[in-house]
Amino acid sequence: MSAHNPQLQWWKTGVVYQIYPRSFQDTTGNGVGDLNGITERLGYVADTLGVDAIWISPFYPSPMADFGYDVSDYTDVNPMFGTLEDFDRLLAAAHHRGLKVIVDWVPNHSSDQHPWFVESRSSRTSPKRDWYVWRDSKPDGSLPNNWQSEFGGPAWTYDEGTGQWYLHSFLAEQPDLNWRNPEVVAAMFDTVRFWLDRGVDGFRIDVAHYVMKDPALTDNPASQDPAGMAHFKPMGPFNAWEHVNDRGHPDVHGVYRDLRSILDGYEGDRFSVGEIHIFDWDEWAAYYGDGDELHMPYNFSLVWAGWNPTAIRARIEAVEAAVPSHGWPNYVLGNHDEQRLATRYGPENARAAAVLLLTLRGQPTLYYGDELALREASVPPGRQQDPWGIRVPGMSRDGSRTPMPWTPDPGHGFTDPTVAPWLPFGQDAATRNVRVHLADAGSILNFVRHLLRLRRNRPSLQRGTIAILDDVPEDVLGYVRRFDGEQTIVLINFADSTQMVPAAPTATLLAATHDGGSLLGDGMAHLAPHSAMVIDPGPAA
Ligand code: GLC
Repeated sequence: MSAHNPQLQWWKTGVVYQIYPRSFQDTTGNGVGDLNGITERLGYVADTLGVDAIWISPFYPSPMADFGYDVSDYTDVNPMFGTLEDFDRLLAAAHHRGLKVIVDWVPNHSSDQHPWFVESRSSRTSPKRDWYVWRDSKPDGSLPNNWQSEFGGPAWTYDEGTGQWYLHSFLAEQPDLNWRNPEVVAAMFDTVRFWLDRGVDGFRIDVAHYVMKDPALTDNPASQDPAGMAHFKPMGPFNAWEHVNDRGHPDVHGVYRDLRSILDGYEGDRFSVGEIHIFDWDEWAAYYGDGDELHMPYNFSLVWAGWNPTAIRARIEAVEAAVPSHGWPNYVLGNHDEQRLATRYGPENARAAAVLLLTLRGQPTLYYGDELALREASVPPGRQQDPWGIRVPGMSRDGSRTPMPWTPDPGHGFTDPTVAPWLPFGQDAATRNVRVHLADAGSILNFVRHLLRLRRNRPSLQRGTIAILDDVPEDVLGYVRRFDGEQTIVLINFADSTQMVPAAPTATLLAATHDGGSLLGDGMAHLAPHSAMVIDPGPAA
């Protein structure tokens, strides 16, 4: 049906749930999650929760210098996570339940243990030398240019054996592939076909804007506003530079046009979403192309907006203005690279944040555990895992990657109770877990389930227009979604005090974060502090 009605394509109407495979479910008792664990939990994902698709972070062979984002074989499964057959079973089981499956694709860099790089670094005349970015020192012996690694330090490492530097935008264990070499392009597109042939529904593309850099490798200028950049994403010393030459060269668009034509050559609605941290919205929106590049670039605008109605409104409006008419928006509030949402926005705002994510116009991505409002876990120094956090103080991503707490018991239903999981559980896992939350009618998990059902049953939420309301108090963000005569109004109170918003006498409450605290009556919506309401205003006047 969707092929005939583009409005109903799954990636437009659906909600995506991100699974970090190391932390979802361990079935082998080694303290690390695996693919069979995801398969076991699909009932939770599809039925209990009720999302439409999963995105699984990398599960490929990898030395795990960056926890799977350093791929040493693009077309296999890391034995730690299972086998290709396990993946096929997972995919079939997901499809059987009507879930789509998106896998991660990491085109910018491989592992330094990938046979391509091992070959490339073996000699200057290796047939794969040009598969990566090699340069001589400058005449004074210094580095080829001033580019910095996102994870701290120079983006170049000197190879003693061949006397040249290689480029790595991330760790030295993650050398950048040379996308200007047609053999690399062909080999990488073959890896895409490998997963499409197996039946995956799409790709989340790691640092998609990085694949094309300035061919002259020109220095980056110093940032004019390093503090201001932190407003978009705190990146430590990396924000000291304007990243105008080390990524996002206009030639990148040709790569994604070619990728799109591969996806479009397959049956079904195969999907692509790029991880693109660009906050110039026109440059960001260019990744939609003319409807012939990515299906969408991720929209991270709200991740670091602060829990503030003015900032959030401004970013929603900026993104809405930038998305081309043929494009489809999306929202991300949390993922495996960011501090847990409930800590970042404040635990008292976690439910309102769920309302925001699931009622804005566009595809939402829900990060595993945010349905429980997991807090950022504190990971003791001896158990730190994230290489970024180990290299740059304050940048650790471990606290948002901790194992999913399923039950109150030791091991929390995630792993064997006698085994230490790869990262410790959050401090409140005995009370904040799936079993306890399911049994509590007032839990955030049950509230998120309710919101997901509501969204599924209301076309205005799935695919309606959005208009921000002006006649609300300044501490309230309000918007109306409209589709084919149906209207849904969303009101979010950012203040510590109750806020009143006029509501039609015919209005009915569809969802409220605070039972009993948020009421409709006397022609008014009474919004408790930090609460949100979803309202059906009744027949359009
Ligand atoms: C992306 C991933 C992140 C990884 C980095 C390098 O930002 O989301 O986890 O460390 O790329 O691959």
